[in-house]
Amino acid sequence: MSVLSNDKEKYVHGVFTAIAHRYDLLNTLLSLNLDRYWRRYAAVRTGLGKGGRALDACCGTGMLTLELAKLAGSAGKVVGADFCRPMLDRAAAKLAGTAYQPVVELVEANVLSLPYADDSFDCATIGFALRNVPDITATLAELRRVVRPGGRVVSLDLAKPETPGFKQLYYLYFERLVPLVGKLGVGADGPYRWLPESLRQFPHQADIREMFAAAGLNQAAYQELTGGIVAVHVGVK
Ligand SMILES: C[S@@+](CC[C@H](N)C(=O)[O-])C[C@H]1O[C@@H](n2cnc3c(N)ncnc32)[C@H](O)[C@@H]1O
Repeated sequence: MSVLSNDKEKYVHGVFTAIAHRYDLLNTLLSLNLDRYWRRYAAVRTGLGKGGRALDACCGTGMLTLELAKLAGSAGKVVGADFCRPMLDRAAAKLAGTAYQPVVELVEANVLSLPYADDSFDCATIGFALRNVPDITATLAELRRVVRPGGRVVSLDLAKPETPGFKQLYYLYFERLVPLVGKLGVGADGPYRWLPESLRQFPHQADIREMFAAAGLNQAAYQELTGGIVAVHVGVK
């Protein structure tokens, strides 16, 4: 497939193709339903208002896309872009027949080469996906490119909690229990091993903030949620 240019992309594409049918259920289960609150929080941080235009890159099954659509309202436009067709198919099924269907357009695209002109959107989000791309700074630069001057780029992703005690408990859960529950959920061992592995490879939230700045995003800052197990980064073009 032409949208896959290197080994990490091919691997990640395979992971999400394998788990698309269980993604929403396992997300809710493994996050103890906190994922809804995290996505709503990230959507609000975009500053998107009624009638606005938003891009949700790596939109997957469209959960963050939907939160943006609620903010943009019926006069707005939200594009959900992802390179994995089975994830987009889930998003389309979720939107079908809802009031948000006319607001949202789903597009198969690689976040590293988005099919949009410069300054096309009021804001761009990327949810739980910076960990999955082969080049974080290039991804942020591409999101910055398609956002208008003054618009925000927002990332919601897993982070590395620091509080002693909580940190050890969390990693026990995340490294041991999550792959087990994932294996039961999708019927295969590999895909949910990627989740802890991707966090191990992912820079600390303070370093992601530096990458926002390096990508030309101003006022780069982040907020940790739920004891630092996720972080929301915001930068302004
Ligand atoms: C963990 S899921 C997150 C989905 C959604 N944003 C959410 O909040 O649930 C990561 C998504 O990123 C997509 N993805 C990973 N690398 C990508 C790339 N280079 N271009 C486009 N989509 C990508 C995957 O296909 C997958 O749907």
